[in-house]
Amino acid sequence: MISELKKQFLDLFGGSDEGIRVFSSPGRVNLIGEHTDYNGGYVFPAALTMATTIIARPREDSIVRMAATDLDGIVEGNLDTIDNYKDLSWGNYQFGVFDELRKAGYNICGADMLYHDTTPHGGGLSSSAAIEISAAIAMAALGGATDIDNIEMAKISQLAEHNYIGVNCGIMDQFASAMGKKNHLIFLDCKTLDYQLVPIQLDGYKLVISNTNKKRSLAASKYNERRSECEKGLEILKSAMPEKTCLGEITAEELEQHKGLITDEIILNRVTHVISEDDRVLKAIDALKNGNLVEFGQLMNASHVSLRDLYEVSCEELDTLVDSALSIDGVLGSRMTGAGFGGCTVSLVKDESVDTFIEKVGKEYLDKIGYAASFYITEIGDGGREILD
Ligand code: GLA
Repeated sequence: MISELKKQFLDLFGGSDEGIRVFSSPGRVNLIGEHTDYNGGYVFPAALTMATTIIARPREDSIVRMAATDLDGIVEGNLDTIDNYKDLSWGNYQFGVFDELRKAGYNICGADMLYHDTTPHGGGLSSSAAIEISAAIAMAALGGATDIDNIEMAKISQLAEHNYIGVNCGIMDQFASAMGKKNHLIFLDCKTLDYQLVPIQLDGYKLVISNTNKKRSLAASKYNERRSECEKGLEILKSAMPEKTCLGEITAEELEQHKGLITDEIILNRVTHVISEDDRVLKAIDALKNGNLVEFGQLMNASHVSLRDLYEVSCEELDTLVDSALSIDGVLGSRMTGAGFGGCTVSLVKDESVDTFIEKVGKEYLDKIGYAASFYITEIGDGGREILD
């Protein structure tokens, strides 16, 4: 595949293959711990083998030309006028990352880049984090950085989302894309960024991702709204517990004791989701470590219910996939993954039931929603890196 991409790169940008380098970073699926990251809570994602691959070559000037294998044309910008590309329909994430790299003190240079994505766009599997991290590593490396710190690349990419794209996202997607490891899940404390790689042991089971293929609209503004609702909740709770700096530091018992302070039911629901979800992550990790997949599945199901009813980020399409999944023998758990409002679900499915799952869930979804879902068997891959021949 890489030699084919290099050929395509030379057809588009001309020149020789001298100086060409290859970088890659994956999408992610989150198994549990949703909308907890920006509250200083826990998440449990894994990097996928679906990824963004970049063929890149530095230039002598400050021009960046970018193309993608699934888009027509070339997007061109100048690093000297980096603020001008916020409204691009494609390429804005990269310019945001380049801007933040420069602010962080990295040398950045003009470049020609060809992007090849296998993570579905807008599907809740963090195709944008895959683009950001691969672009960050590529640009830092082309600019002369050696020993690139992937956690720093994750932080820089998150800042690009905040400052250039306007989404106040947490760190989960960028961290998972940057730091993933083949066949491992990442247990991440989003407050401290301490993490543990947990080997995935799903004897006899697979993680099946189902994509609603729903076109998402307003997801960014609703996302930011949820975040500010959590901040309001924290402010209120701080009147009783001034030492708390984030919802992730508040236990279920403490919430129970002080919840009377929150008179707005919506805010209380949001806070209750975050605090209970954090608990579920810890229980889920124990369950996985103990080989108790039944309990793991139940926690996934409880997470979905909480996201649907308390956090209100699910939708008919996601609920249809989850309900249909849970009606099949051999499915231990199913939940939406990622921000919500569309995107994907992840389900824990017995090996023998996978074919029935795809057939039945696919049919029920098509009958009810009117267009088809897509299915992928999760393969867990490595995080962002340069690909050396
Ligand atoms: C999106 C954000 C993440 C996280 C999830 C919800 O994927 O980018 O930071 O908040 O939603 O868990």
